[in-house]
Amino acid sequence: MKLIFLGAPGAGKGTAAERFSELYGLAHISTGEMLRSEMKNGTDLGKMAKGYTDAGELVPDAVIIAMVKKRIRARDCENGFILDGFPRTVAQADALLEISDIDMVINIDASIDNLIARISGRRMCCGCGACFHTSRYHDETCNKCGGKLYIRDDDKEETVRTRIAVYHEKTQPLIDYYAGKGLLKTVDGNGTSEQVFVKIEELVAKI
Ligand code: AP5
Repeated sequence: MKLIFLGAPGAGKGTAAERFSELYGLAHISTGEMLRSEMKNGTDLGKMAKGYTDAGELVPDAVIIAMVKKRIRARDCENGFILDGFPRTVAQADALLEISDIDMVINIDASIDNLIARISGRRMCCGCGACFHTSRYHDETCNKCGGKLYIRDDDKEETVRTRIAVYHEKTQPLIDYYAGKGLLKTVDGNGTSEQVFVKIEELVAKI
């Protein structure tokens, strides 16, 4: 099974993809997480990407496409994968056509109020990258690995506004792009994580 989870910043792509990939044995390919790992390790790619991510802008297509091309060839992708945060531009979507076929694109549609509330309460683990929300999790360390929780550099209010504007300009056109290919399904992303997950499961069961 090869899926794309599409949606604005904070829509809940990562949360749903993490749970879904674990349950169904699919590789979870988050381009945002891959870039954060490069940044944490201080690689050339990470240093280059930081300027873009901190500003809320997209990393250049060529860099991202090369990164995903390599990742999809890895062994853990043989049983299928979930692309979370890729593609984000029409150029990336066109490139993906040459890399792999896709079974379904799930567009997680959440209101702007929910996007802001979710991003402003998000906390990440510096050890394993797990994601929490202050409304449901009150510790300062991760319950999986004990790592310290931090606020993502690009979760500052000013940057979030840019990220949402960039989403509308560059990523939202992919909704029509994939609808035109008959691959798009939209789920209401305004419910709880559990409700969103169940809706995605119902759609995927029809593949
Ligand atoms: P990336 O990390 O992909 O960020 P994003 O797409 O902006 O998405 P988010 O991670 O903010 O949100 P999400 O939808 O995954 O929500 P989450 O599940 O975490 O990318 C970061 C940057 O990297 C980009 O800005 C860009 O610079 C660069 N980049 C990445 N990919 C790129 C690409 N393809 N091309 C170019 N540049 C690229 O949930 C958010 C919070 O809400 C969490 O706290 C969670 O616990 C909570 N939550 C989730 N679901 C629910 C729910 N249903 N109810 C209540 N709370 C919920």
